[in-house]
Amino acid sequence: MCGIVGYIGNKQAAPILLGGLEKLEYRGYDSAGIAILDGEKITMEKTKGRLKVLSDKIHGGEDLKGTIGIGHTRWATHGAPSDINSHPHLSRNGRIALVHNGIIENYLQIKALLESEGYTFVSDTDTEVVSHLIDYYYNGNMIDAIIKAIHRIEGSYAFGIISVDHPGELFAVRKSSPLIVGLGNGENYIASDIPAILSHTRDVYFLEDNEIVWIKGADVKVLDVYKHEVKKEVFHVDWDVSAAEKGGYEHFMIKEIMEQPKAIEDTVCPRIQGGNIVLDDIKLTKEQINSLKKIYIIGCGSAYHVGVVGKYVIEKLTRIPVEVELASEFRYRDPIVGKGDLVIIISQSGETADSLAALREAKVRGARVLSVVNVVGSSISRESDDVLYTWAGPEISVATTKAYSTQLQAMYLIALHIGINNGKISEEEKEHYLAEIQTIPSKVGKIIEDVAPLQNYASKKYGSKDIFFLGRGLDYCVALEGSLKLKEISYIHSEAYAAGELKHGPISLIEDGTLVIALATQDSLFEKLLSNIKEVKARGATVFAIAQEGNTEIEKEADFVVYIPKIDNLFAPSLTVVPLQLFSYYVAVNKGCDVDKPRNLAKSVTVE
Ligand code: M6R
Repeated sequence: MCGIVGYIGNKQAAPILLGGLEKLEYRGYDSAGIAILDGEKITMEKTKGRLKVLSDKIHGGEDLKGTIGIGHTRWATHGAPSDINSHPHLSRNGRIALVHNGIIENYLQIKALLESEGYTFVSDTDTEVVSHLIDYYYNGNMIDAIIKAIHRIEGSYAFGIISVDHPGELFAVRKSSPLIVGLGNGENYIASDIPAILSHTRDVYFLEDNEIVWIKGADVKVLDVYKHEVKKEVFHVDWDVSAAEKGGYEHFMIKEIMEQPKAIEDTVCPRIQGGNIVLDDIKLTKEQINSLKKIYIIGCGSAYHVGVVGKYVIEKLTRIPVEVELASEFRYRDPIVGKGDLVIIISQSGETADSLAALREAKVRGARVLSVVNVVGSSISRESDDVLYTWAGPEISVATTKAYSTQLQAMYLIALHIGINNGKISEEEKEHYLAEIQTIPSKVGKIIEDVAPLQNYASKKYGSKDIFFLGRGLDYCVALEGSLKLKEISYIHSEAYAAGELKHGPISLIEDGTLVIALATQDSLFEKLLSNIKEVKARGATVFAIAQEGNTEIEKEADFVVYIPKIDNLFAPSLTVVPLQLFSYYVAVNKGCDVDKPRNLAKSVTVE
């Protein structure tokens, strides 16, 4: 979950590294550090706290001179955030500096071995063992030492490494943690993610597990563990650097909420051609579709919530049974999955450790894996049989909004594709669904046009201690996401319940003034939901309801109502979620929370 960056060229490295780290802060932000190689010495500065603290300390990088360096922004796993636990970590003689993203699972064993060889440790991190281990194996050849070290360690890693014994060189290697190489003109970069280097170059290599990067001057080599050179394809990034900038908004989150109409349109419209769904990237044949026994949808957090919507939608349109599971559960529960099953992995980052492990588990058992991923070239996309990209563009805010919304569209596209192919959707239904789905961008646009009522309501409710979300059917699925959004950025305790479950326990939590957010967009369940609203009102709750335009009856019961434009109920989640995102955002802003970087969280959860 940490971010790493490295530079080698003829410019001063430190300001470039700080610039790159700023773009990676979404990956972790409890401490930061950089190490610069200047001839035969390494200078290093690292500190607990946000990147700004480090940057101020070294005057925007001016204090550290040298044209080769590595940098790190941390999300602590082993050892509390502190100056000493911050990266980079040095080898015992200070000749090697290393930054790491991932977890070294057998670090205690290695530590014991190194201690018996006279090494002493200054930090509580798992990473420090690796800088010493490389030193331990170093015999004049850095590549050999790195290969020996990665053979010895278990876990996940992306390392950036410099050494005073190799004054014009930069090394890197990865396994199960993302790492790219940025190819410039006479200068090169390594980074955890594209935005870190996008202002310098658009040409990148995506690295596979255990590929070792050796950059000497301007020469970039990628080697395998047998030291054979690997021919890499250059990937040209075609999205605009401004896509990863705030562009005048106060936070990335609100910018990304506002980008949803375009993100949805980009994800859906190119895939509807001549009155049909065209999923060029999916190689699943008609025969394979017709012999599908079961579909699993797997993800974490919001991606899992998309899966919950996906279950309702796919089962309805294809009549194939769907199970939706948390990746962290699926991977360890010996699931009954195999040939003839389709496993859909949903992930914005494409790097989530549990989702990647679930993918591998499904493949080993013979299932076909289709992933729904936003980050092009990410591990999950590369390891899947088929990929359906969500064209949301870079999502920087830790709380997902536009990625969630585009993932929902992927669920519809997959459901329609399968349902049309297995004959469960008639021509007439197909026409109707295709027409409806294409109205989503403009309807989301209409919701975000006037945020004032939600902004105003949030300014009255941001002091709430507990907030409950209720819904039935697809509204329940969206309630799960609304509740997560609120709690992760505003730190208000919140829970989502299927409204029918109220009487089975949760209603005892309702007291005078408790805020209940009731989702009532599903026509067939509207009356039932109205009854649930009455029940909580009778116990003192204040109710904020979301309903479809025209269902004004709700105003008799609810204290505050937001209407979404009329749409086929199946697609309502795409609209309902938007006021919930806005409400969470404005509550968090009112509370003075760090909206884009909520405490304890990171955007890309590359550790278990
Ligand atoms: O990158 P992924 O989609 O795999 O991430 C999954 C979750 O970590 C993510 O959705 C998380 O729950 C977000 N913070 C929610 O806003």
